[in-house]
Amino acid sequence: MLSEKMQNALNKQIRIEAESSQIYLAMASWAEQKGLEGVSQFMYKQSDEERMHMLKLFKFVNERGGYAKVTELSAPALEFGSITEMFNTLYNHELFVSQSINELVHIALEERDYATHNFLQWYVAEQIEEEAQAKTILDKINLIGDDKGGLYLFDNDIKQFSVVSSIMPQV
Ligand code: FEO
Repeated sequence: MLSEKMQNALNKQIRIEAESSQIYLAMASWAEQKGLEGVSQFMYKQSDEERMHMLKLFKFVNERGGYAKVTELSAPALEFGSITEMFNTLYNHELFVSQSINELVHIALEERDYATHNFLQWYVAEQIEEEAQAKTILDKINLIGDDKGGLYLFDNDIKQFSVVSSIMPQV
């Protein structure tokens, strides 16, 4: 059984994951209308992955006798300035998500909720992967700079970039 505090914190994370999905969907659309097909495909997949992160938490809350809540979501930005700016935003957003997961782990320990603590380890591992991936992409983008030819190749390259985690959640 989830404590009230734990349940509220998990519901807060459900909202964050749902908002992440919306943010990445907005990025997919922005890249698509700029003709960056590879980047947009990548962002559509990222958006789907965030929805899975949300659903995995959602089902856990209900399984543990809580009530997973669907709430309103903040509207994402629709303009990202440049591709560098967009991936910077993505990287910083993942750092924010990691911080939020760490806070959840902290609450689970405070509440002596070892089942939730154990469940959250999947997210801890996933965030390591997400941060590393975002950083790798950002480094590549920074190398390219304003070079149009480089950006064209990058857009092709990113199609091969595996965003599917080896430990994808079973929802
Ligand atoms: Fe669900 Fe990208 O964090």
